[in-house]
Amino acid sequence: MSASGVRHADRARGRLWPDLAQRDSVLEELMDDPDCDPRRLAATYRRFDLVNRAVSGWGGVYRAHVRPRLRALGRPARVLDLGCGGGDVVVRLAGLASRDGLDVEWVGADPDPRALEAARERERPGVRFVSRGSAQLLADGERFDLVLSNHVLHHLDTAQLRSFAADSRALARSVVLHADIARSRLAYGLYAVGVTPLAPGTFLRTDGLRSIRRSYRADELARTLGEPWRVATPAPFRVLAIAEGQADRD
Ligand SMILES: C[S@@+](CC[C@H](N)C(=O)[O-])C[C@H]1O[C@@H](n2cnc3c(N)ncnc32)[C@H](O)[C@@H]1O
Repeated sequence: MSASGVRHADRARGRLWPDLAQRDSVLEELMDDPDCDPRRLAATYRRFDLVNRAVSGWGGVYRAHVRPRLRALGRPARVLDLGCGGGDVVVRLAGLASRDGLDVEWVGADPDPRALEAARERERPGVRFVSRGSAQLLADGERFDLVLSNHVLHHLDTAQLRSFAADSRALARSVVLHADIARSRLAYGLYAVGVTPLAPGTFLRTDGLRSIRRSYRADELARTLGEPWRVATPAPFRVLAIAEGQADRD
């Protein structure tokens, strides 16, 4: 595989651009290799902050979905960022909620100790990080008001995706929000250009392009998750899978 993520098969067909009509579920991201270069991985987790601010649209999701749910609770809340990676999304959301005067305990969870090492550099009052996956949190008896994730879904195979989705609903009393990239040629082209200044010393270029190839379109994600999930498109090149939580329901 070349650094741009264009496969041999695409090159053989004379394509400089990969075929994005179909989701590529086989292509692996460099960061998902347990033996990948630890320095590049740490730099990638740290620089996700800038990429997530530019592409992930959590400001809008916070205003449309997170803030109204937190306000409706009328009491202090617990919110979980599942697969928090370097922890920047949960820290950003904590800042937004704090400015709105909301009382929230924020937890970032990730089973990968390499992610946790980067996330713990961002620990601050009201935000803590735990080395746990979704199934472990459930087994621990943890429950939250809101459960959310960013850029986790496209990393998982179908069976893992369905367990992750089911675990997240079982962990949440209120709503679950899983945000991810929506696959498109335009997203691929814009990312290939836009990531260039941020990419040196990281996996951001190769893995970002592979992520776009692995990611779902809204209708594909809705079909794969099934009822009761619905999939919105809250911003360009974004999908947001939404379902009500099931925790503490009889
Ligand atoms: C690309 S990273 C996304 C990190 C971060 N959310 C972000 O947006 O930058 C995907 C993360 O999901 C985590 N992950 C995968 N399966 C998980 C599970 N079942 N429960 C919690 N985290 C999981 C991985 O360890 C990895 O750190």
